[in-house]
Amino acid sequence: MDRFVITGPCRLSGAVRASGAKNAALPALAACLLTDEPVRLARVPQVRDIHTFLRLLAHLGVGHQDAEGELLLTPCGARRSADEAPYEVVKTMRASVLVLGPLLARHGHARVSLPGGCAIGVRPIDQHLAGLEALGAEVRLEHGYVDASAPRLRGARFRFAVPTVTGTENLLMAAVLARGQTVLENCALEPEVEDLAALLTAMGARIAGVGTPTLVIEGVESLGAARHEVVADRIEGGTYLIAGAMTGGDVTLVDTRPADLAPLIAKLAETGARVEVGERSIRVQGSGRLRASDLTTAPHPGFPTDLQAQFLALLTQAEGESAVCETVFENRFQHVPELNRMGAEIRVEGNTAHVHGGTPLSGARVMATDLRASACLVLAGLAAEGETVVDRIYHLDRGYEQMEIKLHRLGGRVERTASTS
Ligand code: EPZ
Repeated sequence: MDRFVITGPCRLSGAVRASGAKNAALPALAACLLTDEPVRLARVPQVRDIHTFLRLLAHLGVGHQDAEGELLLTPCGARRSADEAPYEVVKTMRASVLVLGPLLARHGHARVSLPGGCAIGVRPIDQHLAGLEALGAEVRLEHGYVDASAPRLRGARFRFAVPTVTGTENLLMAAVLARGQTVLENCALEPEVEDLAALLTAMGARIAGVGTPTLVIEGVESLGAARHEVVADRIEGGTYLIAGAMTGGDVTLVDTRPADLAPLIAKLAETGARVEVGERSIRVQGSGRLRASDLTTAPHPGFPTDLQAQFLALLTQAEGESAVCETVFENRFQHVPELNRMGAEIRVEGNTAHVHGGTPLSGARVMATDLRASACLVLAGLAAEGETVVDRIYHLDRGYEQMEIKLHRLGGRVERTASTS
């Protein structure tokens, strides 16, 4: 198992380009199950979750190959199973549930292992299932699997009880091949949902209301070939901007969509960091004396929960008292005890972390517990005095492409080593 050895403190500076968004590339891969035609995807991040999803697609009869740096996905004859996503795959990656809608829409049947609990919360999929039932599917839960069938899905009106990201994506992919019109209400507004709608539209789907809480989908008989560039990863990009501000550095995120990071830009400015927004770039200069700031996570366009841990690390270095309220997931403060081991002063009460900022951090051996918590610990290591060792960075590799190399280019001293113990 790899670990990161980080020598701090450092002052990051330079330009960095985010990879394509993991959380947009995953539904884009699932959408390939909706057609017999080739789909070509550009800016697909080389991260572990993508590799896992490609293995699942191969299992379901969709092959892939590299095409001049882009990913070409085509149906391949050899199917080990036409419509089942097995436990072995789903247990390693909850996002596998994204094959449910497309398989059902395309084959009239899908059998997908029910995702279990996860480090950050219970994360039920009741809204995915209720939505598919509204479109006429018969859904049974048995032996740890969701078994859903429908000769052909039919258009309907469905309102999500919560604006769920993958729930919206699953229903969108189910509705594009359903008979008639579907109206989805209280949909998630995340940029990754919009990106999926752009791909489906390029494949021939008819979707209105993109970017609003209400999506109206006219079902079509079939979908065709398309080429699509995956949107820039706002969470990866935001992580580097926070690192720049936290280390008193000067970091420019290039080739990105600043509007997708509006909540972060506002919060960084509130802490006193200098933020310059260009057409496709964001430059952050740390002031060296950051100010405390309260934060509440919320579905987009609120502050993303996937940047909460990284921003909390920054607030440990901001003078004053900050309150960080996590409203999306019920167990997303596992990075706090590790930050406190590095010298931070954070107290968690219910869904709020109270940060007494401005205490110096010192390097320590820490353990990553999930994807974004591991990024938070890397940022803390960059600002800490001395050596920090972050174990279990396999969590990080799920969603950050070559993080140590990108940090190196910004002047960070981060080494990946294989752990012997
Ligand atoms: C997506 O997860 C992302 N994953 C998560 O990113 C991200 O944290 C999350 O959206 C919120 O932004 C992918 O896109 C692959 P939700 P998802 O359904 O879709 C409740 C990362 O770090 N809910 O929007 O699973 C749920 O429990 C990951 O990259 C129900 O109650 O999240 C949660 O409290 C972590 N019933 C809230 O809604 C449902 O059927 C939002 O969850 C579905 C969700």
